[in-house]
Amino acid sequence: MSTAHRDVVTIDDLSDQDIENIFQLADGYLETMAPKDTPDRIRGKLDVASGRIMATLFAEPSTRTRFSFESAMLRLGGQVLAASDAASTSFSKGETIADAVRVVENYADLIVIRSPLEGAARVAADFASVPVINGGDGSHQHPTQTLYDLYTLRREYPDWWRNRARKNLKVLLLGDLKNGRTIHSLVYVLARFGVHIHVQSAPGLGLPPHVQRRLYSDFGCQPIPGSVLKGTRKGFDAIYVTRFQAERSGSGEGAAYPVVDLEFLKAPQYRHARVLHPLPRVEELGYDLDQDPRAVYFKQAAFGVPVRMALITYLLSLDQRVKTAAAARPIASRIAPDRKCLNARCVSNNPAESRHLAHRFHVVAHKPQTLRCIYCENEFTVEAKAKVLR
Ligand code: NCD
Repeated sequence: MSTAHRDVVTIDDLSDQDIENIFQLADGYLETMAPKDTPDRIRGKLDVASGRIMATLFAEPSTRTRFSFESAMLRLGGQVLAASDAASTSFSKGETIADAVRVVENYADLIVIRSPLEGAARVAADFASVPVINGGDGSHQHPTQTLYDLYTLRREYPDWWRNRARKNLKVLLLGDLKNGRTIHSLVYVLARFGVHIHVQSAPGLGLPPHVQRRLYSDFGCQPIPGSVLKGTRKGFDAIYVTRFQAERSGSGEGAAYPVVDLEFLKAPQYRHARVLHPLPRVEELGYDLDQDPRAVYFKQAAFGVPVRMALITYLLSLDQRVKTAAAARPIASRIAPDRKCLNARCVSNNPAESRHLAHRFHVVAHKPQTLRCIYCENEFTVEAKAKVLR
């Protein structure tokens, strides 16, 4: 079981001060390593992480996340062990996450895990004695993508970042808000930093109710439906576009999916809006935008490297300037009733994984008592007949 170290399972694991520290480290790496003609792109190699090894345990496809983590570690002077898909790991032989991380921690100082199971990174963090970073767990969260999404907004709007107690950004989230894990970690940090969140989903693909409830209960945030801004001459500061998550969706979903292209951006409220996208794009983001100054998605992808370099530095305490003692968030009352999470895709309902874990919940409301699964964060009420909040 864990000894003292930091994990990044959800974006809540990083305090405001952690995020600021990580961003300052990332700025430093860009200043010292990016060539003048490509100022967003890290080149060269340091020896900050020499002697350290990072393992990437990925049971789902990935280009950006795995390569940029590996690039980050290599450019820090560390080394990597890579499992690129479930077929090349012992997951394909039926090994549980709990067993896999208790083995891999012997070989590596840091584990990055990606899994289709929601809550998988929590299980890994519970069992590993080295830091675990969530590289995406099903539809649940993708906190490191969120870090560099936020870093991109900070680089585009430095005045906002400096004065964010007084100044608000307006950000429109667009696309599949139901299944996109990048959205499910981004909304919490945007709400935490006071951003005005507007939402425009494809039909039936809105933010899940448990995410909406937490946005309201923890941050007093109620996302505003629609892309029309009333009573203001200033338009959106940013649009965050996401692809239809076909692999996680029900049949019939994904119809009438919004498309952001030059035609879409002609509307006056988008005159200055930066366009972000976690990539990969499919049909929802026009190629005609690529040369438009509002398109920042490739710059955003480039920032994945300095931000992940900074995060690795931070979690491995490799920089004397970094204070690692940031406060952990208080944990709400936990109960271990004889209940099961009602989300069939939750890691706690996977027959093999469930051998190593207990169903655990936060109580998030009373009357009716409402439980939030600590793994997948879906919520359900405890009544005579429990029902999922959908
Ligand atoms: C995202 C993911 O894997 O969730 N990709 C990424 O890591 N940049 C977004 C997506 O797949 O739509």
